[in-house]
Amino acid sequence: MTARYAEMPRFASIEEAIAGLQPVEPVYCLRPGKFAGAAGRFLDNFPGDALYAVKSNPNPRVLDLLWAAGIRHFDTASLGEIELIRRQFPDALCHFMAPLRLPGHGKIAYEKYGVTDFVIDCDAELDKLVRETGNPKRLRIFVRLSATAGGALLELSSKFGTTPDDGARLLKRVAEYGEIPCLTFHVGSQCLSSFSYAQAIEMARRTIIKSGVTIGALDIGGGFPAPYANYELPPYYWYFDTIREALGTLELANLPLMCEPGRALCAEGISLITQVVLRRGDKLYINDGIYGSFDELTLPGFDADYPATVYAFDHGTATVKDGPKRPFRVYGPTCDSLDVLPRPVMLSETIQPGDFITFDSMGAYSVSSRTPFNGFFPDAWALIGN
Ligand SMILES: Cc1ncc(COP(=O)(O)O)c(C=O)c1O
Repeated sequence: MTARYAEMPRFASIEEAIAGLQPVEPVYCLRPGKFAGAAGRFLDNFPGDALYAVKSNPNPRVLDLLWAAGIRHFDTASLGEIELIRRQFPDALCHFMAPLRLPGHGKIAYEKYGVTDFVIDCDAELDKLVRETGNPKRLRIFVRLSATAGGALLELSSKFGTTPDDGARLLKRVAEYGEIPCLTFHVGSQCLSSFSYAQAIEMARRTIIKSGVTIGALDIGGGFPAPYANYELPPYYWYFDTIREALGTLELANLPLMCEPGRALCAEGISLITQVVLRRGDKLYINDGIYGSFDELTLPGFDADYPATVYAFDHGTATVKDGPKRPFRVYGPTCDSLDVLPRPVMLSETIQPGDFITFDSMGAYSVSSRTPFNGFFPDAWALIGN
């Protein structure tokens, strides 16, 4: 591994990390085996290129682990993400998969970084992209369709995406420009139904037929789920089998395929160690909150819970606190009353200040959304296992 890892404290287990660090600030614990397992799932089973959605966790340590696990394609949805990835991996394959680009950024992505994959969902962005890049007739321009909401906790089709009719029209316009027309959609994040992909692929099929153009690639987006405490996940092979079967209906044997998993590649790889600072009855005050690692819990519709475990630390040893549990209101460390986890957390009823709480499956949309509000900014890191 790279120097970034050599510098990180390394432990065999969470218990050893707590004992070794006795951290008063939150610690992100990276689990290389989990990153390797998640990446392997897509590299071995998805019948195309798996692009890591960088926005889900752009931390250089996470990127290194995914690179080490074999990920080479990146859904870089802004110029900033392209620059970040190319700085770290000059040979990485970047795809600019945001339907909206700031003025001039399409030009820089194409001319400076050689990016040729872009997304649009309207005439204005198509025309701007073609104008900025000089219409090189070698861009793959993905028209983004709105997917039916339903299977996912977080929908991603009300802000971007268009209808099959309008999508067909845009595909024709891409072809008229001489660029390569392609299609994409996003079924929504933490999608618990593999059928959502089949439904969206059917919509893509109808759009292709309506357009009458030859499609250059299909990108089925992200949305693949991660394990959280209160959701039973369908097995992964359901997703890959359903997707493969639905793709068969397109009858486009050699169509290049892509997907853009974010959460499914990075969530499981991080456990977060936090510490209890104060207890008042059933109110707990811990050293991290919604302005730090727990922002995603505040999103409307996101009702997944991170699996939580309490550890006591005594005489140099950390041990899990077993026994009866009860619900606690968990507050973050800032002065803001809003800084409270939106749902109670079931924790050992004997929990007390100085105890530690670990939260698992914390890799996605946590590190990427934290803020330095009120002087708190979790940024301590450790490695757990190999
Ligand atoms: C265009 C695009 N692709 C991929 C992703 C990653 O989605 P997920 O983390 O649900 O896999 C997102 C998330 O916002 C997105 O907007």
